[in-house]
Amino acid sequence: MRTSESHPLRVAVVAVDGVPGRVGVTLCPGKYQPDALTGAWDRDLERDLDVIAGLGATTVVTLVEPHELQALRVPDLGARVEARGMTWWHLPIRDQSVPDEATERRYREVVGPDLRRRLAGGELVVVHCKGGLGRAGLMAARLLIEHGASPTDAIARVRAARDPRAIETRAQERFLKAIPPQRPLAFTRHPVDAMRARAAALRDELTTRRSVRHFSTEPIPLEVVRDAIATAASAPSGANKQPWTFVLVTDPAMKRRLREAVEAEERRFYDDRAPERWLRDLEPLGTAWEKPYLEDAPALIVVFAQATAPDGARHYYVKESVGIASGFLLAALHHAGLATLTHTPAPMAVLAEVLDRPSHEKPYLLIPVGYPADGCLVPAISRKDLDAVLVEVPPS
Ligand SMILES: Cc1cc2nc3c(=O)[nH]c(=O)nc-3n(C[C@H](O)[C@H](O)[C@H](O)COP(=O)(O)O)c2cc1C
Repeated sequence: MRTSESHPLRVAVVAVDGVPGRVGVTLCPGKYQPDALTGAWDRDLERDLDVIAGLGATTVVTLVEPHELQALRVPDLGARVEARGMTWWHLPIRDQSVPDEATERRYREVVGPDLRRRLAGGELVVVHCKGGLGRAGLMAARLLIEHGASPTDAIARVRAARDPRAIETRAQERFLKAIPPQRPLAFTRHPVDAMRARAAALRDELTTRRSVRHFSTEPIPLEVVRDAIATAASAPSGANKQPWTFVLVTDPAMKRRLREAVEAEERRFYDDRAPERWLRDLEPLGTAWEKPYLEDAPALIVVFAQATAPDGARHYYVKESVGIASGFLLAALHHAGLATLTHTPAPMAVLAEVLDRPSHEKPYLLIPVGYPADGCLVPAISRKDLDAVLVEVPPS
């Protein structure tokens, strides 16, 4: 019989990319297993836990099933781990297999985030199954993948540290290869005073943005506009489908064609189609069917919303996504020192025709960009008070 004395617990410790924490891989502490392929085991749980605790582990993740804990004669393994002040997680996986739906859900929602938080904090997380090869190797490799390692690299590193037989089955390898790659969040935490100052500064800056309807014809640095479009394209979107196209027009002939097409529609809108109330609401803004800014502004960005992917595949929350991206775009242009107008000619289909866009792209906004004309005036309008738009639910 091999014991904890004859074979002290061997914990293979693997470094994790980008964080100070480490993952330890081992067999089932304290196991009694007379029929093991490599020879019989009669281990001592407390001695094995001495080794784990001695390494400084804060957390033990048990991957064997409850019936195995019984068979291995360590039914109270979890309680003994916790009695030493370590955290115990039980994520049962069938021997030679991969997590079932319930275990997977629990990992994703609860255990995974906790383990990653611990690794980020520099803790040692020990994972074990029965023999410390298949399921434990799988879990260790998974944590490496979640921190940016490729599946091949993660598997190789776990095998090098633990045993060439670690990650035992094709199904386990396939499971690892199917994990969507993850990387650590790049997040800057600011002191609270700095947060207040940053929030106030951005509010002050964005509240000076106004819709400009009189543009200078002076050229603008187009690389600034491209950068602002890159900012817009970084916006969140339904299922990350990024259902937007930004068409940048600077060619005078194309701007003229767009102006003519838009003015024809706008003229019909102002003369015939617009309901009285709409015209009354527009009156303070001084808008009319004539749109000289479509030629004066050195650049026009026509934002298109992609109703579907080019191959017809589904997009989600298209309007919301393109709206958020357009908000980013207006803020980025303003921040860089350029004026904009949010223009929605009614109807807008002419924009797609003139720009010869494919049928899955629907015109969403037309944004003239440039410097304001000298002497540019804007309507003296204001915003509702914060009280009128913010409802705070009091603590119960
Ligand atoms: C979705 C949307 C559509 C708009 N459409 C037009 C438009 O077609 N023509 C126009 O002159 N202004 C348009 N505006 C600009 C609004 O009139 C303007 O944002 C509002 O009066 C507030 O003024 P400000 O942007 O100067 O703060 C639009 C704004 C939004 C958000």
